[in-house]
Amino acid sequence: MNHAKLIRGRLLSFKRAPLALTDIESYRYEHDGGLLISNGKIAAAGDYAAVKAQAPEEIEEIDHRPHLILPGFIDCHMHFPQMQVVASYAGNLLEWLNTYTFPEECRFVESDHAARIAAHFYDELLRHGTTTAAAYCTVHKTSADAYFAEAMKRGMCMVGGKVMMDRNAPQGLLDTPQIGYDETRAVIAEWHGKGRNHVAITPRFAITSTPQQMKAAQALAQEFPDLFIQTHLSENHEEIRYTGELYPEAKDYTDIYAQYGLLGKKTLLGHAIHLSDREADALSEAGAIAIHCPTSNLFLGSGLFPMKALMRRDKPVRVAVATDIGGGSSYSMLRTMDEAYKIQQLLGERLNPLESFYLMTRGNAEALSMVEDIGTLDVGSTADLVVLNAASTPAMQLRMETIKTLPEELFLLQTMGDDRAVVETYVAGMARKPVERGETAAAS
Ligand code: GUN
Ligand code: ZN
Repeated sequence: MNHAKLIRGRLLSFKRAPLALTDIESYRYEHDGGLLISNGKIAAAGDYAAVKAQAPEEIEEIDHRPHLILPGFIDCHMHFPQMQVVASYAGNLLEWLNTYTFPEECRFVESDHAARIAAHFYDELLRHGTTTAAAYCTVHKTSADAYFAEAMKRGMCMVGGKVMMDRNAPQGLLDTPQIGYDETRAVIAEWHGKGRNHVAITPRFAITSTPQQMKAAQALAQEFPDLFIQTHLSENHEEIRYTGELYPEAKDYTDIYAQYGLLGKKTLLGHAIHLSDREADALSEAGAIAIHCPTSNLFLGSGLFPMKALMRRDKPVRVAVATDIGGGSSYSMLRTMDEAYKIQQLLGERLNPLESFYLMTRGNAEALSMVEDIGTLDVGSTADLVVLNAASTPAMQLRMETIKTLPEELFLLQTMGDDRAVVETYVAGMARKPVERGETAAAS
């Protein structure tokens, strides 16, 4: 039962994007904080003693001191059917897709397999402190059914979509413009708005969709203008070149999606690394979101995403961050932001730890237009939380001895932290970090 409870610890929640490491106005920090949770929502937040004074006398209390309590992490781009693709040895994106990823995704026609992997997927998210994600399923409706059914079981706020793809992949992974349209409509009818589920219209990328299928995606976007649209954009030079060949009439890669009415405020564009100025302007004008997937971009050798440069343009591009499992190599948003930091270093830019923690929480919630519900510890939000311990390993514990400020502690968490730093994950006020299953099989 989701009864009222009082959670005590060090609270951190962002009010807006931090402008500098010294921007203390951008966040709210309570050294001895309390969160009053009622019906899965945050009913009061602030100084522990003040919040306790508002709570019923017999209330259950959970004391997480000295750990940090933040809004649960949000992951804006990943692929749930790629859990068994992570760590596949390939030279580049297209080789990786054709050699490992497409064959693996064919298995999701089997609903038992889809259900088994979905359970593991949510376990892994929660183990890493991620409470909301936007993920691709496969072309098979069975995969979307498994994904959303499991999200409902866990009470999690999830975005997902049946992938539309009708060319340039194995037969077992292809639909048609009509089937892609019909099955996406069926997924919307069965799952959108149920529990905390959000269905996304999901044409995989221009290479795997014919112009006829793009028209079908456009029709869906017109019929369901509030839905997310997710796809991939400008990840790899060979991909960009081939895409140009397939759509010779388009000005550039971005223009393909624009021509089919797929660029808007709820459009989530994975990668978007190699954009021209014209394309960045087009994203900015549409309010579409470029999603940085740093571990994936490094792992596949795709390129260095110019995040800070895109954010400070005269026409800024909205940016979010994500793991991109299984092109990405870690489920952890902490590991993800460590790699994001290093990419900006290589580009001669600074990404400070306040910005990183903002992006993983409120920033990604704003990118998903969900900041009223997730991404902060504000009263009225759903109590999706992560509890973090910056001394979770011996090496981190030793480093913590010399750390004096909150930004230093956050930077340590980002630089050395992973799932071991996640003490607990709450979904709608319920503790949900999975206990270890012990279900591992040795490779033969
Ligand atoms: N582009 C099209 N499909 C994919 C995918 O599954 N992963 C990545 N990283 N890029 C893609
Ligand atoms: Zn992707």
